[in-house]
Amino acid sequence: MSASLFNLQREHLTYLQQAYTDLLASHDLDSIAIYSGHASPHFGDDHTPTFQTYGHFMHWVGMADIQHSWLVIQPNKRPQLYLYAPADFWHLPTQLPEEPWVTEFELHLCSEKITPTLAGRAAVIGNIEATTRLALDAQYQPDPLVKALDELRMFKTAYEIACLGEANRLAMAGHQAAQAAFIGASAELDIQLAYLGASRQRESDVPYQNIIGLNEHAGVLHYQHYDLNSPTQRHSLLVDAGRRFRGYCADITRTYAGPDAPTIYRDLIDSIHQLKDTLVESVAPGVEFISLHKQMHFLLADILIANDLFQGSAQEAVDEGITRAFCPHGLGHSLGLQVHDVAGLRQPDGTPLPAPEQHPALRLTRTLRPGMVVTIEPGFYYIPMLLEPLRDKALPINWRRVDSLANCGGIRIEDNVVVTESGFKNLTP
Ligand code: GLY
Ligand code: MN
Ligand code: MN
Repeated sequence: MSASLFNLQREHLTYLQQAYTDLLASHDLDSIAIYSGHASPHFGDDHTPTFQTYGHFMHWVGMADIQHSWLVIQPNKRPQLYLYAPADFWHLPTQLPEEPWVTEFELHLCSEKITPTLAGRAAVIGNIEATTRLALDAQYQPDPLVKALDELRMFKTAYEIACLGEANRLAMAGHQAAQAAFIGASAELDIQLAYLGASRQRESDVPYQNIIGLNEHAGVLHYQHYDLNSPTQRHSLLVDAGRRFRGYCADITRTYAGPDAPTIYRDLIDSIHQLKDTLVESVAPGVEFISLHKQMHFLLADILIANDLFQGSAQEAVDEGITRAFCPHGLGHSLGLQVHDVAGLRQPDGTPLPAPEQHPALRLTRTLRPGMVVTIEPGFYYIPMLLEPLRDKALPINWRRVDSLANCGGIRIEDNVVVTESGFKNLTP
């Protein structure tokens, strides 16, 4: 690890120690114990699904695969890390990296699964089994405390922003390999394998299941398969794929036209890139994310009109729900230790700030402030089940042109952006 990243990490831990100390005082507590979580085996088996360490645990210990372990935070005391490290000849027990940050913790290697002894008034957070919960003399998951800790995660330290930047850099190598594989006429599975190889990760380590959609599959928002065979016609590829670095997630989408795509699809990809750039450049402190999302809809309406897909006004395209049929997801979300990070739909004091009724999929409704990291991910899709209800209405939609996009599925372009004091910084190279 570079000296500067280590220094940033030390500052991050010092900041967390102070923030937790303040929260302990304001919530009348002497200690907080954070459980890492653990994977549960498939029913009747000893294999487990993939696992991700609890976010508030990762906030201190940037490893996404720690299980059965505890972190105890008290004022004026080094964080206590109880790391589960059994004598096990079936598996390699979790090993901490040989990095200087480890010495910031008081480390207890535990050969058994333990629950820590907690002094004074204590709170325990994490996904803990009911029997363990009953045995603890502590408040379990007190809602005001968890909300305050979520709020802390909304604002990234310089260390966290450096990690998100590195995750982006690593993911981008994967995106370049995916594009090359598409040019080489690969199948979805081969594109996924090219992505994993170039971004240096195994599939169980990805922060979310990569979306690799060729042709119509590019229009399935969270398409979850990888076809083994290459299609004979290649219209499009959408790759929404990430990478973790020290627990922090990249969440990047790119879309490409294939040799069989119509010209209008290529033009639309260019337009969505420009739309993404315009929206990224609008990111600044004090901006309402809901306003940016609504701006996206008006700019999508302009794109529909400019490409002769809609022959009415931009206002009509928005009011009639036409832009929402072409883009049913939100403009973006908070990004951090979880790809859809916490506290996006709340006021800073924890009161709910739900998505507007017309935009139920929006995951971030807050005023942007320096230190927030968000995705900006406009999209444009041919989704038959959303277009169908519009066909019965007397709307000036150029259906012949719209239907020429059916084989292309859709377009999404997604970057990861920091809100700075003066505006924005785009982390996606
Ligand atoms: N990859 C999921 C998303 O973009 O939100
Ligand atoms: Mn996203
Ligand atoms: Mn994404």
